[in-house]
Amino acid sequence: MKLAERILKIKPSPTLAVTALANSLKARGIDVIGFGSGEPDFDTPRFIKDAAVRAIDSGKTKYTPAGGIPELKKAVADKFKRDNNLEYKISEVTINCGGKHSFYNLMQVLLDEGDEVIIPAPFWVSYPDIVLLADGNPVIIHSDEKDGFKVFPEQIKAAITSRTKAVVINSPSNPTGAAYTKDELRKIAETVADRDILLISDDIYESIIYDGLEFSNVANISEDIKKKTIVLNGVSKAYSMTGWRIGYMAGDEKIIKNVEMIQSQSTSNPTSISQWASVEALNGDQSVIGEMVSAFDRRRKIIVDGLNSIPGFSCLNPNGAFYAFPGIEKAASFKGWKTVSDKYGADSISSAMSSYLLEEARVAVVPGLPFGSDRHIRLSFATSDELIIEGLKRIKSAIEKLV
Ligand SMILES: Cc1ncc(COP(=O)(O)O)c(C=O)c1O
Repeated sequence: MKLAERILKIKPSPTLAVTALANSLKARGIDVIGFGSGEPDFDTPRFIKDAAVRAIDSGKTKYTPAGGIPELKKAVADKFKRDNNLEYKISEVTINCGGKHSFYNLMQVLLDEGDEVIIPAPFWVSYPDIVLLADGNPVIIHSDEKDGFKVFPEQIKAAITSRTKAVVINSPSNPTGAAYTKDELRKIAETVADRDILLISDDIYESIIYDGLEFSNVANISEDIKKKTIVLNGVSKAYSMTGWRIGYMAGDEKIIKNVEMIQSQSTSNPTSISQWASVEALNGDQSVIGEMVSAFDRRRKIIVDGLNSIPGFSCLNPNGAFYAFPGIEKAASFKGWKTVSDKYGADSISSAMSSYLLEEARVAVVPGLPFGSDRHIRLSFATSDELIIEGLKRIKSAIEKLV
């Protein structure tokens, strides 16, 4: 059977693949340290789990409205007011099966064949593929490490064509941790001010931010910009609820209504039990977030210092999220690199480096290539201090063999 062309355009999520590979090696008794995972290593807080148990026990186990229960939509609208000073009506909010699904639904609603979405690189691996699945064209603009991995408004302006439908802003970013300031966001917003182009603000790492930095949302800039912005968020990262699959979005009522129509003809409602647990997450004690963030902050220092002490590696301090994205270009010029590229392939240094580290150091990292930079690798520091310290030691001794 010949499969649809659409499926040939995309590839499996490399982050999920690295995590699966590390887990399968561990299951075979091989001592691998995984830096692949994009999820907090903490358990979901007890009060959220209790709410799920209560939902099961009280029979909240049936279909809900496709776009989510009114109680969760209200909790999301209240969260936007409380945390972001953004007012949304309930009709401007929808609940989806994870943040990834929110972006997927949005692309299905927005794009016709050949429509373009501007995506700053390095980017979350799923954006381009989800655009392709909607028959759109991802238009990648590159940022530089020396500019803190942030793109300039002029680059966005230069990439805009008559087919541009949206610009993606992911701040703090996966994989770089870079977070835009309010002033930078204002300048980005100005690039689309007089055009029929949406800003998509993916705020999934909003609450994981360091050094007293204040999270900024492009929708706060003005009422006009808010009208052009769709905000995506979810409970996965903030409350360590990745498996519960609840994402949400807010913005233009017509877009939201159509997202719900797609959902009504595809997944139907997000899991009822997860929705009730998310009501509790958003309305309940928010101090659980701060506790996780202080652990991430401690690990951030360990990992950034450790990576910068490895010959040929250089790593910026991420402003937010829980990823380090070190440059490896120099290490790939060491005299021992030839044996690595002969063995693992010369087309992609980040893939060869990841394979080398897995085999030589028993450490699983994700190549930068699928994030849009082959000169970097991604390490998640959502793992224990001890494993980070041991993993860094292993990476260092593997790299020292190449010098
Ligand atoms: C930038 C970004 N957006 C959205 C998501 C989606 O998260 P989820 O589908 O678990 O809610 C992720 C997950 O890794 C992410 O890194």
